[in-house]
Amino acid sequence: MTEATAVKVEHQRFFVVDFGSQYAQLIARRVRELGCFAEMVMPHDLSARIDEATGVIFSGSPWSAYDDASPKIDPSVYENGVPILGICYGMQLTTHLLGGEVDRAVAREYGPATIEVLEGDTKLFAGLDGELDVWMSHGDRVESLPEGFVAIAKTPNAPFAAVRHTSKPIYGVQFHPEVTHTPRGTDILKNFLFGVCAAAGDWTMSSFVEEACAKIRAQVGETDQVICGLSGGVDSTVAAILIHKAIGDRLTCIFVDNGLLRKDEAQEVLENFRERYQIPLRFADSGDLFLDALEGVTDPEAKRKHIGRIFVDVFKEHAKEVENARWLAQGTLYPDVVESQSAFGGASVTIKTHHNVGGLPAELGFELLEPFRDLFKDEVRAIGRELGVPDHFVERQPFPGPGLGVRIAGEVTRENVAVLQEADAIVREEIEREGDHKKLWQYFGVLVPVKTVGVMGDERTYENVIAVRAVESTDAMTADWADLPRRVLARISNRVINEVRGVNRVVYDISTKPPSTIEWE
Ligand code: XMP
Repeated sequence: MTEATAVKVEHQRFFVVDFGSQYAQLIARRVRELGCFAEMVMPHDLSARIDEATGVIFSGSPWSAYDDASPKIDPSVYENGVPILGICYGMQLTTHLLGGEVDRAVAREYGPATIEVLEGDTKLFAGLDGELDVWMSHGDRVESLPEGFVAIAKTPNAPFAAVRHTSKPIYGVQFHPEVTHTPRGTDILKNFLFGVCAAAGDWTMSSFVEEACAKIRAQVGETDQVICGLSGGVDSTVAAILIHKAIGDRLTCIFVDNGLLRKDEAQEVLENFRERYQIPLRFADSGDLFLDALEGVTDPEAKRKHIGRIFVDVFKEHAKEVENARWLAQGTLYPDVVESQSAFGGASVTIKTHHNVGGLPAELGFELLEPFRDLFKDEVRAIGRELGVPDHFVERQPFPGPGLGVRIAGEVTRENVAVLQEADAIVREEIEREGDHKKLWQYFGVLVPVKTVGVMGDERTYENVIAVRAVESTDAMTADWADLPRRVLARISNRVINEVRGVNRVVYDISTKPPSTIEWE
């Protein structure tokens, strides 16, 4: 047990066991939305920690329960009396481990389905009689139940669409109650938490803040200093405020201007932070170092590596001057972590080396302090509000660490940065003028250094393209391009072409993620 988990926990804890499903984090989040604290747990850690849990939910998985290599759990957890709800693979694994049969389904079910609830009076379906619309996503199905289990819902393709043990608090559902496509899914999770597990609903943002402060104090001890790389974004700022609340001036923030920030951003961040918070802050004005190193570099990963390396150098220099600094604080979020881990703790495919996870701390020789490692962005925003951070700030859109460096396709030059800063400022201003930017995850400009022909007055022009990117998303794992009103696009196009020298064409990016990504590099 780490020092962090040894902190006295005042509230109940629910474990979500992550078998590698894309929805595992969503389950945890739904549980927290229902006022119960949820923590992600890896399958191999469950049996050792089962006594800490008030209830456990097993996620789905891309694996088949009957594959030798698939993630498993120690079956002793079924004997412990702690309520368990298996979702999809979670139900199939339970069936497989307890002696039932799971096989490839003749008819796979992906998408909407209707289940027929067989026993409306069970705790799981309390108040949910008859037929329910659900979301299915499975290629395997339960063929026969282990001893002691009965079916409590079925579909034409899945006779065991939901099951329960007759004497133990073990349940399984083949469908996904955590997704919004299962309209009564939250009621089913609520029934499990409050009806089956007798949850107290004792988790709130303020209890998070209190507990996180206690954890930070326990981790850092009485004398260590913490440094925090401030990016000006929501996550690192809220992390800094939280840590300052926990340990006061033993926190020093370092804000590095890498020359790739948005228009006027460095100044705004510094002014805001210094005006509002009495947190020690060092400023590294290092734009030249970064821009010199990027000269002639066009490959996206090479650019990121250069930016990362110089960041480490600059950070090291400044951190040296903070005596006894042993901890590096980061605003890492759960989606950052999950993209670099599999259900077995291994690395998944690297699409972009874009997260705080990995690299930095080892090179710097710090221990990591990551108070938001289990949370989603909107939860961190809620914590920010709880800590008194103004709305306009907590609602800021995410901005990547390498900044405009990943929004200039190809070589980053001082000239390109200046062009993009101007164009991007217009894109943001015009979208914000409309007032419904809050529903957007991100909206920004991208410089496409492809010259195309235009005509201005009677003159021929041969200049760059600006792409407008605006997406809706809940966690950046998937994203949809936003249906911006035509008048907004028209204003952006008109202003960028008229006001920004070096641009004669504006295009709108209509790509979803996947298969594209949000940033262009
Ligand atoms: P992509 O482009 O992979 O981006 O769809 C997903 C989300 O991650 C942000 N992003 C980054 N954030 N450092 C960061 O801190 C990075 O290098 C980085 N690259 C992408 C991106 O803005 C989007 O919100």
